[in-house]
Amino acid sequence: MPACPTLTTERLTLRPFQEDDLDPLFAIMSTPEVRASLHVQDGFSVGDAWRTLSAFAGLWELKGLGQWALVERLTGRFVGRAGLYWRPEPDWPGVEVGWMLDPACWGAGYATEAGTRAVRYGFEELGEGVLFSVILPENTRSQAVARRLGYLPGEERRLSNFPELPHVVWRLDRTGWEAARATDRDGG
Ligand SMILES: CC(C)(COP(=O)(O)OP(=O)(O)OC[C@H]1O[C@@H](n2cnc3c(N)ncnc32)[C@H](O)[C@@H]1OP(=O)(O)O)[C@@H](O)C(=O)NCCC(=O)NCCS
Repeated sequence: MPACPTLTTERLTLRPFQEDDLDPLFAIMSTPEVRASLHVQDGFSVGDAWRTLSAFAGLWELKGLGQWALVERLTGRFVGRAGLYWRPEPDWPGVEVGWMLDPACWGAGYATEAGTRAVRYGFEELGEGVLFSVILPENTRSQAVARRLGYLPGEERRLSNFPELPHVVWRLDRTGWEAARATDRDGG
């Protein structure tokens, strides 16, 4: 099982989660913006953040894929997470790419930058044929990231891990990925 690698992009380091990410992760997940977008439950505690962090780290051990902690190269600051995700429920579509940033960093392109690298990892290192992204219809910022990466929206459905609201399952196959990369190279 590949351990979580450390990768770099133009402005970010994507590295394994570590224990001292707990406080900044908790702080980001406690902001009103992130709470609203992710429907973080009332009473979300530092213990809940610890479970989240542990699950991200554990997924790499168990499945050889997972989320990275995102560190701004210029400042060394923890700014969020992005990467791969998987759940065991039968109605979960497959390997997902996801993202979450400190609201102070929204609007700078960091999610797109990290998401681009995570998508490449999914196709090139993991050999996936298709990647998914499960996004609430109201989450327009996340949809915009998916669209920039070449994802297309698919069906809207209720998933058993979050049955309260329907999600749209976005999909990116290799052909779509190649097309998005070509557009990028052409400056489109
Ligand atoms: C979803 C989320 C990560 C998107 O963050 P974001 O900052 O909007 O997305 P990006 O980092 O890709 O930045 C894109 C914005 O930066 C701008 N930008 C600036 N420089 C850029 C660059 N080099 N590359 C791309 N975009 C750039 C874009 O024009 C865009 O601006 P806009 O907001 O005015 O449209 C963020 O809203 C978030 O953390 N939400 C809470 C968690 C969440 O909902 N996660 C997804 C669950 S499905």
